[in-house]
Amino acid sequence: MQTIPRVKGTQDFLEKGLYQFILNAFHEHVSLYHFTQVSTPIIEHVELFKRTLGTFTDVVSKEMFLLQSAESKDNLCLRPEATAPTMRAFLQVLPATSWKVYSHGPMFRRERPQKGRYRQFHQINTEVIGSSSISQDALLITMLDRFFQENLKIESAALQINFLGSYEDRENYAQLVKVFVDGVQGICDTCMERKDKNILRIFDCKNPTCQKIYEDAPIMIDHLSAESQKEWEQLQTELSLLSVTFSVNPRLVRGLDYYNKTVFEFVSAQLGAQNAFCGGGRYDRLADELGSKKSYPSLGAAIGIERLMLVLEPILDSLALPQPKPLYIIMPLAAEQNPLALILADTLHAAGLTTDAFLDGDSLKSMMRRANTMGAAYALILGESEQKDNTVLVKNMMTGDQEAIAQVDVVSYLRK
Ligand code: HAM
Repeated sequence: MQTIPRVKGTQDFLEKGLYQFILNAFHEHVSLYHFTQVSTPIIEHVELFKRTLGTFTDVVSKEMFLLQSAESKDNLCLRPEATAPTMRAFLQVLPATSWKVYSHGPMFRRERPQKGRYRQFHQINTEVIGSSSISQDALLITMLDRFFQENLKIESAALQINFLGSYEDRENYAQLVKVFVDGVQGICDTCMERKDKNILRIFDCKNPTCQKIYEDAPIMIDHLSAESQKEWEQLQTELSLLSVTFSVNPRLVRGLDYYNKTVFEFVSAQLGAQNAFCGGGRYDRLADELGSKKSYPSLGAAIGIERLMLVLEPILDSLALPQPKPLYIIMPLAAEQNPLALILADTLHAAGLTTDAFLDGDSLKSMMRRANTMGAAYALILGESEQKDNTVLVKNMMTGDQEAIAQVDVVSYLRK
């Protein structure tokens, strides 16, 4: 019989030290900014994403993992992102105050897998729900920038920002782009389709011919209303005031339809084609799109944890990753010593010492070899004579020194 392989585009995490370090560091960091943690389900109604991300986005039209069964009429899916679910949760609870929340967990998109692009990936997602001030955008971006620069010491990252204007600005701009596209020739079939369905998506096209043609297309920030122009300038001034380095990428539109005004991405050249490890922006109408009678202008961002881990790989030495605690291995020499081994392990666990016991009756030689591979600090050997004398043979795995210690004194001996 053949073994069953991993599902395409997914990963097994065999060691989660760095992953956990990122989560802990983020938790500490965002607590300073008064974010609290929430969690929403992995399954949601498909309609939630259709209404918010846009029916013609790649995520909704091609990449959804749909869950349908013969018995159920529910149209469910695995969540491709966490912003719409967070807003759904907010509208369901309708708390008295605005929300500053973060969550983390797996997201699912049926994309073509490659380095940094998976079908199940993990995000840390932050949302500020119920704030219309552009200063809040500056604060959120600064919070993320400080996290990457100060807490994680990333030097290879660059922040790109753009401004999509109000929804009306965007409509007017889409018209200008349409006129431009109608006047050119040679764009690919996908772009021709996007032209009719969701014209701003043409800027996501990777086809070099299309890219070349779009170099001459009108630019959103050249066509902002006076009010949007003021906010766009305010954002840049406030980021500069807070010493956040950024560059303006006028072609940054992001792949989801709910954005207006501010959009941004943190990118790293280290990542290759999938170079964004964090992206976000403002989404002032998402609550309305979900049927809310009241508007909740909001903004947020998501960090791709796998991509962030790739960025951190070369600079792990500069991070204060927690060192593993010393490991103690209990080695009963025969099954008769197993009960004593269990009692000794229980005593060591109660004393807060990281302890494992080899209970499968291996030879001492093979147990020593295993303990060495595990990087154990001490071996605690229990044979017939130790059992009789109420002692343990404690062996220092680094020096090879060994000593018989009374069982009652083992914890204090190891603590020394
Ligand atoms: P997004 O740009 O689609 O935005 O995803 C955010 C980040 O998740 C990306 O920058 C990337 O690091 C990571 N990511 C996305 N797709 C994949 C994939 N297939 N494999 C690995 N990593 C991936 C959102 O999801 C928005 N909900 C962000 C947001 C929050 N906007 C406002 N609030």
